[in-house]
Amino acid sequence: MKELEKISAQLIRDLCSCRDCRDEISGQRMRSVMDLSPELLVLDVAATSSGFRFTLNDKHEVELQRDTIEEILEGFSDINWRSEASKVLWDRDHAPRTVFHWSDIQEDSHDLYQLLDQLLVYGFALVENLPVRDRAVIDLIHRFGYERVTNYGDIFDVRVENNPNNLAFTNLAIAPHTDNPYRDPVPTIQALHCLESSVTGGNSGLVDGFRAAHLLREENPDAFDILSNSLFNFEYRNPTTYLSASAPIIKVDVTGEIIEVRWNDRSMQAPISEIQVDIVYDALRSFAILVNDARNCHTFKLNTGDCVIFDNTRTLHARTAFDSGGKRHLQGAYADLDSAISKHAILEEMLEA
Ligand code: OGA
Ligand code: ZN
Ligand code: ZN
Repeated sequence: MKELEKISAQLIRDLCSCRDCRDEISGQRMRSVMDLSPELLVLDVAATSSGFRFTLNDKHEVELQRDTIEEILEGFSDINWRSEASKVLWDRDHAPRTVFHWSDIQEDSHDLYQLLDQLLVYGFALVENLPVRDRAVIDLIHRFGYERVTNYGDIFDVRVENNPNNLAFTNLAIAPHTDNPYRDPVPTIQALHCLESSVTGGNSGLVDGFRAAHLLREENPDAFDILSNSLFNFEYRNPTTYLSASAPIIKVDVTGEIIEVRWNDRSMQAPISEIQVDIVYDALRSFAILVNDARNCHTFKLNTGDCVIFDNTRTLHARTAFDSGGKRHLQGAYADLDSAISKHAILEEMLEA
C-alpha cells in the first residue's frame, strides 16, 4: 500500500475508465488534459477484488486493476518495433536462413506470424513459391497490410530497359542501399518478387543497416555523430516528378537508440552546404566501408517464384551485375511497417488464446 502513494493523483485520474471518462465502445478518452487539476489529491485507497479504488479530492472514484498498478510501478512501456532495442543484429554468418512457403502464409497462421516476426526482429524474410504472375507481390503484401502507391504506381518492374532512368533497370551491380530515401515519409517495407531469372549473376544481397550503424558507433563515434546529427539531401527527378528529402543517414530517437538508416549512393546529393565537408566525407566513407563489407552481406539468388520482403528503414539490399544473355525480371512493391506490426500483434493474441 505504501508503494501506491508514489503514484501521481493526476495519473490515477487520467486512467479512470468509467463511463464519464472513457467512451464505452471505443475506449477513447472523453476528457482533455485541461480537465486534470494539478491540485488533485488521493484521499483514500481501498482494495477491491481485482485491484484498488482511489477516492480523489474532486470526489471522483477511480478503480484500477492490479495489472495496471504493476505496469505503473515497474515503468512498463510497449516494445518499440522501430528501435534497435527490439532487434537481433546479424552479419553474413548469422542471417536467418528460414524459407517461408506461400501456401503456408496464405491464411492467418503460425507461419504468417513467424514471417512477420522475422521481418520485425531480423529485418527480412524470404518466401518461396509465390505464384509467377503479374501483381502476385501485392497478394503477399495484402496478407498483413496495404501497398504504398507512389509515382511508380502500386508495383514497379525491375528489368533491363532501353533508356533506363535508374541504374536498377540495367544489368549493372547495385551496391547496398535503401529505396526511395528521397521520399518523406520513406516507404518502410519493400518486397521484390522474381518473375523470371535465367541470367548468370544478378545475385541478391542484404545487409543489416542497424548493425552497420551500431559498429560505426563503436568504432568511430565521431563519424556516427556526423551521420546522425546532420541532414543529407536525397533527390529523384524525371520530367514530371521532383522528389527531395533531407534526413540524417542514421536516425536515433530521444533515448539515443538507432531507429532508421537511409543510404543510397545513387540519389544522395553532394553535401555542398557543409563547411567541414572533408570530415563529412570521412564519416560517409567509414559507414560505406561497413555497408559494403562482404562479411556483413547475406547473399543468395532469387529464383523464379521467390519473393524477399524487408524493412526498408533498416535492411539494405543489393544485387551483383548479370550477363545480358538471359532474362531477369523482378516485380516490386512498397508497404508499411505499421500494418505489419499490427498484424503481428493480432496474430500473437490469436495464437496465445
Ligand atoms: C531496386 C533494386 C534489386 C535487384 O530496384 O531498387 O534494388 O535485385 N533492385 O534488381
Ligand atoms: Zn471516471
Ligand atoms: Zn533498391
